[in-house]
Amino acid sequence: MNVLVILVASVTHVLALENGLMRTPPMGWLAWERFRCNVDCKTDPKNCISEQLFMEMADRLAEDGWRDLGYRYVNIDDCWMARLRDRDGRLVPDPDRFPRGIPALADYVHSRGLKLGIYEDLGNYTCMGYPGTTLARVVDDARTFAEWGVDMLKLDGCFSTSEDRALGYPKMAEALNATGRPIAFSCSWPAYEGGLPPQVNYTLLGTICNLWRNYDDIQDSWQSVLSIVDWFSDNQDALQPAAGPGRWNDPDMLLVGNFGLSFEEARAQMALWAVLAAPLFMSTDLRTISRRDREILQNPLLIKISQDPLGVQGRRVRQERSQIEVFLRPLARSASALLFFSRRTDVPFRYRTSLAGLNFTSASLYEAQDVYTGEIISGLKAETTFTVVINPSGVVVWYLYPIQELDLPIGLFGQQPRARGFL
Ligand SMILES: *[C@@H]1O[C@H](CO)[C@@H](O)[C@H](O)[C@H]1NC(C)=O
Ligand SMILES: *[C@@H]1O[C@H](CO)[C@@H](O)[C@H](O)[C@H]1NC(C)=O
Ligand SMILES: *[C@@H]1O[C@H](CO)[C@@H](O)[C@H](O)[C@H]1NC(C)=O
Ligand SMILES: *[C@@H]1O[C@H](CO)[C@@H](O)[C@H](O)[C@H]1NC(C)=O
Repeated sequence: MNVLVILVASVTHVLALENGLMRTPPMGWLAWERFRCNVDCKTDPKNCISEQLFMEMADRLAEDGWRDLGYRYVNIDDCWMARLRDRDGRLVPDPDRFPRGIPALADYVHSRGLKLGIYEDLGNYTCMGYPGTTLARVVDDARTFAEWGVDMLKLDGCFSTSEDRALGYPKMAEALNATGRPIAFSCSWPAYEGGLPPQVNYTLLGTICNLWRNYDDIQDSWQSVLSIVDWFSDNQDALQPAAGPGRWNDPDMLLVGNFGLSFEEARAQMALWAVLAAPLFMSTDLRTISRRDREILQNPLLIKISQDPLGVQGRRVRQERSQIEVFLRPLARSASALLFFSRRTDVPFRYRTSLAGLNFTSASLYEAQDVYTGEIISGLKAETTFTVVINPSGVVVWYLYPIQELDLPIGLFGQQPRARGFL
């Protein structure tokens, strides 16, 4: 531990990343959760990790409305490399699966108005055993990525020690900066140190990384989503202040479109991620995604919440004995995202509360829009009691905004549309 503290102290004077990128949580597509380390292009050509997969996802992002909603990154994860570096020590993509090379793929992705992300690992090997970036190779590999036209680097932490990581992540931030190419930096560092202070210094992370994985890899199950949401909520006092424009906690990829989540659970994950100001990296097959799942991921009001310019991460503000949880994210222009989440497994639950009950004290008149039904709920004062009906493992999400101060002449209130949608 002493060694670690000294190493951390010795790197605090390095150049900050300060690349100006990701002022709102990044959005895009990442291969890992859905496609993993499938390198068998002979028997499974449509699903193996190859340039074809990334080009096809880029086509879908550009043509099916994703890019224009903000989903701009097409990100490679592990298993893109050849088993060995070349003679000069440079990384090379697998020649059979990436025959045109990474610069050509970057050109293709850029021509589609998108950005390309790549993966490496600070250590002897990547998690799946491909060549890693040891401390001695950090500067050269950063240069390689910049020369290739890469826009983002996810740097994993397998096969390294705490001491290696304490030196290597700041060193990579400095090396990326020195290339002169703006390259967003995703750090897996905190996930390898338990994710919490004092092992993790979130102030330092915020100066070197644009986003960071805090916790376990997501798996295609609701149980996995719940374990992540619980961990982030239970530790929100440590995590929530770390997030802000250019620096985001990353609870990992969206599962929507895959196999493990029900409709309600898929809606819940997307909404929770938006309220938590999480990066929105889909990891699903965009060539075959259903209309229903696409509508969840393309929900315009949830994307607006996710991309709110204040960049404040939401918090869990209520944990009821009825197994209802309420999350709140403050938004620009005195608006808020209010998320009612049911952990129940029986029937839709009628949750009764008021804005005052959720600590709203302003004397404003509010209106809300339900992000999934589109319904407008008008005439809400702080003390107005309302009921939301929340399905099991589902959410109700409101985009809530003040429409006037209540110090106006009484006659004006009568002109508000009659309240709808709460009982
Ligand atoms: C490198 O860091 C400096 C400030 O520390 C910043 O002004 C500059 O834009 C950064 N360059 C890149 C390419 O990130
Ligand atoms: C990485 O490889 C070096 C050289 O073989 C070895 O000394 C070191 O212990 C390895 N580190 C880890 C974390 O496996
Ligand atoms: C965390 O890092 C920041 C920025 O480098 C530094 O000022 C601070 O002293 C560190 N905190 C701890 C507890 O080490
Ligand atoms: C709400 O207000 C009460 C009373 O002032 C306070 O104890 C509680 O911590 C507040 N809760 C939140 C989530 O701000």
